[in-house]
Amino acid sequence: LTPREAVRDAERRLAAAGVPGARTDAEILVSHVLGVSRSALPVLDRGLMPEELARLRALLERRGRREPLQHVVGEWGFRRLTLAVDGRALVPRPETEVVVERCLEFLDGVEAPRVVDVGTGSGAIALALADEHPGARVSATDASPEALALARENVVRTGLAGRVDLVEGDLLAGLVGPFDLVVANPPYVAEDELAGLEPEVRDHDPREALVAPGISERLAREAIGVLNPGGRLVLEVGDDQARAVAELLTALGYDDVTVTRDLAGVERVVDATPA
Ligand SMILES: C[S@@+](CC[C@H](N)C(=O)[O-])C[C@H]1O[C@@H](n2cnc3c(N)ncnc32)[C@H](O)[C@@H]1O
Repeated sequence: LTPREAVRDAERRLAAAGVPGARTDAEILVSHVLGVSRSALPVLDRGLMPEELARLRALLERRGRREPLQHVVGEWGFRRLTLAVDGRALVPRPETEVVVERCLEFLDGVEAPRVVDVGTGSGAIALALADEHPGARVSATDASPEALALARENVVRTGLAGRVDLVEGDLLAGLVGPFDLVVANPPYVAEDELAGLEPEVRDHDPREALVAPGISERLAREAIGVLNPGGRLVLEVGDDQARAVAELLTALGYDDVTVTRDLAGVERVVDATPA
């Protein structure tokens, strides 16, 4: 098969399995198997070898069962990094890149900020901050040992060992402040929304990465005790949750509460400084 024929065949198989965005996924999987970028596919002048075709078919089977594309590929881009991703932690999402942006704005000009990323999952936020702020010293926590094992792989893979410490525990337990920044993308799916999610998320992201009622409030209360004067709490929030979280932070005594939209225009990040 030529790459073009392989893409057409892959698209047909994925569409027949009910996968949304079958064309894009087909292009990504064919280029992954061929080891080229997606943009290079149309100009590649060689066909797929039998073992490449067999590998492609195996990946298409998995995607056809609604395994997330990112798990099937095994790695995914986040900010400037390429991270290993699998079922041990949430797949890092584009909206979370806006959280990193917001943190970097706050840390701009702070030479050696101490940062903690709570519920680090794959390590995405912690690693991106260490990568993009060369002076930052980052602690990353998670209650899930499986997630931390994946984060550890990503620390090594990104060459950021020595810049990011991994700590297993509940929220800020075991961490000694003060910190300049506490950031989290906490689980923010309501229990009754779970069934309505896409199968890729519902069946493949760990449940403890999706649902944890009251976690933002608990973290906001704990963060007051570890933040430096003038330090910042930065939280990612679910659709339609920004107002409620902003009000919660104000009620807990935070000042300068700011809401930032993601690239889709959704109010996605709420941050504030303890009074
Ligand atoms: C929505 S995921 C975010 C993962 C990653 N930060 C990202 O943005 O891709 C939330 C993470 O919080 C962790 N978590 C849930 N409850 C926790 C708790 N009480 N203490 C620490 N981590 C927790 C989960 O294991 C999961 O890895």
